Amino acid sequence: MSFCAGLSKGALRVHPDCERILISEEEIRAKVADIGRRISNDYAGKEVLMIGILKGAMIFLADLVREITVPVQYDFMAVSSYGASSKSSGEVRILKDLEYGVEGRHIIVVEDIVDTGLTLNYLAENLKSRDPASVKICTLLDKPSRRIEPVEIDYNGFVIPDEFVVGYGLDYSDRYRNFPYIMVLSPKVYMNEGE
Ligand code: IMP
Repeated sequence: MSFCAGLSKGALRVHPDCERILISEEEIRAKVADIGRRISNDYAGKEVLMIGILKGAMIFLADLVREITVPVQYDFMAVSSYGASSKSSGEVRILKDLEYGVEGRHIIVVEDIVDTGLTLNYLAENLKSRDPASVKICTLLDKPSRRIEPVEIDYNGFVIPDEFVVGYGLDYSDRYRNFPYIMVLSPKVYMNEGE
């Protein structure tokens, strides 16, 4: 089992809500650089509009755009999420739409994690109906064992097992987003949810 470091630099301590660290800061950094290089190659000579899905993808998007060498704009959408729950409600609603129009643009939707696929399936269809030049999907994490709707992922960071993870933008009840690594949340944190 990996050691779960707290947030204080230097003095490492076990965070009580951490089951184990799944992906370290170094692994994330290397993967983000790799995805940035691939996007830069694939979009050579073009401008890309990256669409970050709030709030989970914010930290990934912020690091990723700094690894991309072609011209980039970014915008955000917010959709209904799990709220204070570790399970999907299955319902997707747009809470905040784009500032930019996407017609004729090359867009890349940036997500933190694809789980059931309901969110990205809905968003991809919604965005395609706005006549962009192209739509690609980029996610840091993929949990394929939980898929309900198929999602074609163009850029994927890590395939992970069916465990609830937090950190690097991912949350439980809006907490843990600021952790610099991805950790498996101790089930004791959400064990009594819904009671
Ligand atoms: P999907 O629609 O089920 O694919 O869910 C996508 C959204 O669910 C993600 O953007 C996350 O906000 C949330 N989510 C799914 N799995 C996890 C997890 O393990 N930790 C934190 N959030 C998750």
